[in-house]
Amino acid sequence: MTEAILLVGGKGTRLRPLTVRTPKPMLPVAGVPFLTHQLVRAKDAGVDRVVFATAYKAEVFREHFGDGSDLGLELVYVTEEVALDTAGAIRNVADRLKSAPDEPVLVFNGDILSGVDIRALVEAHAERGADVTLHLARVADPRPFGLVPTDAQGWVTAFLEKPQRPEDIVTDQINAGCYVFQRSRIDEIPAGRRVSVERETFPGLLASGAKVLGVVEQSYWLDLGTPAAFAKGSADLVMGRVASSAVPGPQVRGFPEALVLAGAQLAPDAVVDAGTTVGSGAVLEAGAHVSASVLDAGAVIGAGARVRDSIVGAGARIGPGTVLDGVVVGDGAVIGADNELLAGARVWCGAVLPDKAIRFSSDE
Ligand code: GTP
Repeated sequence: MTEAILLVGGKGTRLRPLTVRTPKPMLPVAGVPFLTHQLVRAKDAGVDRVVFATAYKAEVFREHFGDGSDLGLELVYVTEEVALDTAGAIRNVADRLKSAPDEPVLVFNGDILSGVDIRALVEAHAERGADVTLHLARVADPRPFGLVPTDAQGWVTAFLEKPQRPEDIVTDQINAGCYVFQRSRIDEIPAGRRVSVERETFPGLLASGAKVLGVVEQSYWLDLGTPAAFAKGSADLVMGRVASSAVPGPQVRGFPEALVLAGAQLAPDAVVDAGTTVGSGAVLEAGAHVSASVLDAGAVIGAGARVRDSIVGAGARIGPGTVLDGVVVGDGAVIGADNELLAGARVWCGAVLPDKAIRFSSDE
């Protein structure tokens, strides 16, 4: 197994405004662009060549990773003129693959943080003679996902849309966004048009009698597509709940529950905990407390501010006494003093919010 396709062309709409300037897979997670974690894991599993299927903000990937030599990988970039959706993107890179028709090719979604045993997945694919193998995760609440039931031998029996009613939840197994395709199956995907792997390719394979295997693995799994999941994934990496050798070692010491990158400045009584990442050049003023959050480069957290489960974009400024809980703040936004922003709030890049503009408590 040497070759993989990385799907990184999505617009990441659920993570706006963070993805207005940066494609989702390149957003910093535990101190490095998220993709670094995935690339390092793929390499550790024996992958040596990765074809990037890019569309949205395609140039950003090549500018950062280049030919891949820093990571010990050969990286190849293919850009769709018009986004082709997931299976269309896989087909679009086919002529850049080196694998023979009967060899397996790995495919990764570019936004999944997972501890799946990639080698075991590929071995199961080969041993069982599958045409396509999917990693299936089991989740407590499968409602936001398409469901993938399997029979007693692990063969996939159906691809079901997101369940609408309780009786539609026939399994807790979901498509975890990591596949092994026989190369020949990639060549069979229609070329030059939008094709969805979940809605068209996989159901079509089942209908044609192809052997589609599901491998259920109970490793760490998180889709970083939403702000809450994004902050959680980063914190889990920093806290070591999921391993990645791409997490930088402590650059500024003395913060056991946080990753503080070189060049950050923290007041002596500022607190960073629960897996927070403090980007380079970020500033925490006196008494600021940041938990389970991501502060991008140059973000400023004012005196006494409280930030939890939030993402603060590059160069954004949070005023003294302000509370953020489950919030996304875009790059360069300025939030005045004594605001209170709660779960789901999104502040656009460069937006300016005056002092005491949004509050829920009635102490004044
Ligand atoms: P949302 O807009 O927030 O749903 O995010 P997304 O655009 O990333 O979509 P989604 O999470 O469904 O995509 C799953 C994976 O497929 C991600 O890694 C995307 O980058 C990738 N992807 C989605 N659509 C395309 C596409 O048209 N082309 C390519 N090359 N990749 C895609």
